Amino acid sequence: MNDIHTSVEMIELIRKTGFYPSEINTDLNLLQEITQLKTQKNAVILAHYYQNPDIQDIADYIGDSLGLAQQAQKSTADIILFAGVHFMAETAKILNPSRKVLIPDLKAGCSLSDSCPPALFSIFKEKYPDHKVISYINCSAEIKAMSDVICTSSNAKKIVDSFPTSQPLIFAPDKNLGAYVNKQTNREMLLWNGACMVHEIFSAQKLMKLKVQYPEALIIAHPECEEHVLSYADFIGSTTQLLDFTINNSHSSYIVVTETGIIHQMQTSSPEKNFIPAPPDNACACNDCPHMKLNTLEKIYLALKYEQPELIMDEEIMQKARIPLERMLELS
Ligand code: 13P
Ligand code: SF4
Repeated sequence: MNDIHTSVEMIELIRKTGFYPSEINTDLNLLQEITQLKTQKNAVILAHYYQNPDIQDIADYIGDSLGLAQQAQKSTADIILFAGVHFMAETAKILNPSRKVLIPDLKAGCSLSDSCPPALFSIFKEKYPDHKVISYINCSAEIKAMSDVICTSSNAKKIVDSFPTSQPLIFAPDKNLGAYVNKQTNREMLLWNGACMVHEIFSAQKLMKLKVQYPEALIIAHPECEEHVLSYADFIGSTTQLLDFTINNSHSSYIVVTETGIIHQMQTSSPEKNFIPAPPDNACACNDCPHMKLNTLEKIYLALKYEQPELIMDEEIMQKARIPLERMLELS
C-alpha cells in the first residue's frame, strides 16, 4: 500500500497539480474511511461493471456506459468520483459541468478511445461531407465534439434507426460494434478502424473447446467482440443487458465473453448459477481491462480525501460534445 506514494501516477499527479498526498496509514479501514468521506463531502461513487469487486461493492451506482451517463447527468452530489476510465469521467463532466469530477487514476484510459485520434478523424470526416457521424461513447471529448450523436452498446441500433435509411452515416470508433449494428440495421455505415484490446483478444477456437466442456452453457458476448466470435453467441448485449439476461434466463451456466469484472454482479444476482469467463487468445489475463483495473480502493480514498485528481476540461470542447451526448439521452 505504501508504494502508492512512489508510483509513476503519483509523480505525474505532483507534476501536473503540485499536489502531494500525505502518508496513507496502512491500518486504515478503507471502507469506513471512504464511506465517511462520501457523507462529509456529499460525494457519490459511480462505478462501471469492469471495476474490481471491492470497488463495485462500495459504489453508489454500478452500471453500463448508458446507465452511468444517465446517473451522472442527474446527480446532485457536489463530487462525482468516477470509478471507470477517462472517457466515462469526461462524459460525466460534460453532462453535469457544475460538479467536481474526480478520477482515481488519470492514466485509466481506453484502447478503443485511443484508436481514434481527433486529428486523423477530422481529416477522414472532411472526405465525407454528406455523412452524419454516430460515435460510440468510448471516444474522447474531441471526437464527441465532431459527432452528430453518441451511442452506447445498449442503444446503438436505436440511435442508428433514428436516421432515415437514405442518410449516409459514419460510425466511429469501434469497427466491431459498427459491423454488428450494420448487420442488425441492414446498413452500410462507413466504419472507423478502431477496436478494444480486451474484446479482440478472445479466441473462437478456445471458446469452442469450452463449449464442448460445458455443452449446457449459453455463450453471451459483448458486441465489441469480433464478428467470428459473435457468431457463436446465444445472446449479444451491453454489460447491463448481459447481466439482465443471466438473471431472467433459466439456464444454469454461461460462458461470458467480455471483461471479467461483470461476473461479480452476475454471481451476486444468481449465486446458484455458474459463470465461466471466456479464454483469451494466449496465457495472459488479457480479458481483464488493464485501464479499468488501474483503480483501487487506496486511490479512491486518496482522491476523495484530497479531491484530486480532478478532471478539468476545455469549455469549448465540453459545449460542443454536450450536444450529441444530450441528443443520445433524449433518444434513449
Ligand atoms: P458497456 O458497459 O456500455 O456495455 O460498455 C462496455 C465497455 O467496454 C466499457 O468500456
Ligand atoms: Fe476501453 Fe476495452 Fe477497457 Fe472498455 S474494456 S475501457 S473499451 S479498453
